[in-house]
Amino acid sequence: MGEALRVALAGLGTVGGGVIRLLDTNGELIARRAGRPIEVVAVSARDRSKDRGFDLNRFDWVDDPAELARHAGADVVVELVGGSDGPALALARETFKAGKSLVTANKAMIAHHGLELAKAAEAANLALKFEAAVAGGVPVIKGLREGAAANEIGRVYGILNGTCNFILSKMEAEGRDFADILAEAQRLGYAEADPSFDIDGVDAAHKLSILASLAFGTQPAFGEVGITGIRHVIAADIAEAAALGYRVRLLGIADSAPGGGLFQRVHPHLVPVSHPLAHVTGSTNAVVAEGNFVGRLLFQGAGAGDGPTASAVVADLIDIARGEFGPPYAMPADA
Ligand code: HSE
Repeated sequence: MGEALRVALAGLGTVGGGVIRLLDTNGELIARRAGRPIEVVAVSARDRSKDRGFDLNRFDWVDDPAELARHAGADVVVELVGGSDGPALALARETFKAGKSLVTANKAMIAHHGLELAKAAEAANLALKFEAAVAGGVPVIKGLREGAAANEIGRVYGILNGTCNFILSKMEAEGRDFADILAEAQRLGYAEADPSFDIDGVDAAHKLSILASLAFGTQPAFGEVGITGIRHVIAADIAEAAALGYRVRLLGIADSAPGGGLFQRVHPHLVPVSHPLAHVTGSTNAVVAEGNFVGRLLFQGAGAGDGPTASAVVADLIDIARGEFGPPYAMPADA
């Protein structure tokens, strides 16, 4: 058994707590799979006194998350602070300057600054991993970067926001009001701190721009995504769609344009009931990728929540523990 991979963890909310519980529960199995244990040695969060169901005294406590980057006892930083800029971005930049690898679930930061961070990671031969940033526990980043790496991808699309899918499928099944169901999604921990990011399609657009750059080898271009959310979908739209043989789903779609270029858009779509995406309900996410040799791939599973998202974060840590990581965007960032 090799030496432990020592982790500094910023953010002890839903996902951070899930990472600690997962490592506590499956630590021995993970050590066997990775060839070495994975241990959290230091943490940072907003409120030290909050009861999270585990003993914080096991870890070094750091007030300023950016200090985790310089923590002498840590090899890798996990960023679960959130937000495209501010403390999360400062921590990410500091992490590479300090010669450590970074795992993040932060789709907003990767959508806006992923290329800069990938260049910094590659220049220092470090890992930047973000499986948890898209579709929660579903290994779609790994699927595109590795499993489908031999293919030219013609189109990638799917249900990328659990909150919106939860709302639309409940409106469909129960005929309830939008606001009432949003409150339920917030209670269940699916919604963003600012739920307008969910219902206005911004969160799905962050994720789509990450998938698109992986699938097409293009620069991440969040600003080029056309976005319409689900705020104006009413029960009558859903009933009328059903009468015509469709379901309403918020989809993100990226496809190559004839003659070059890329279309990226997020908006409510009419999905025929014969299509697998019409049967994806609740907070489940599903991504379809079409490769020129593999054909149609469907990745589906829990897109939010502590367990699934922690599963993706720890999968990235296992890759780093094994020393198995390539360029973050599947090809060198300069390409
Ligand atoms: N707010 C996000 C969603 C959480 O509802 O899908 C997971 O990224």
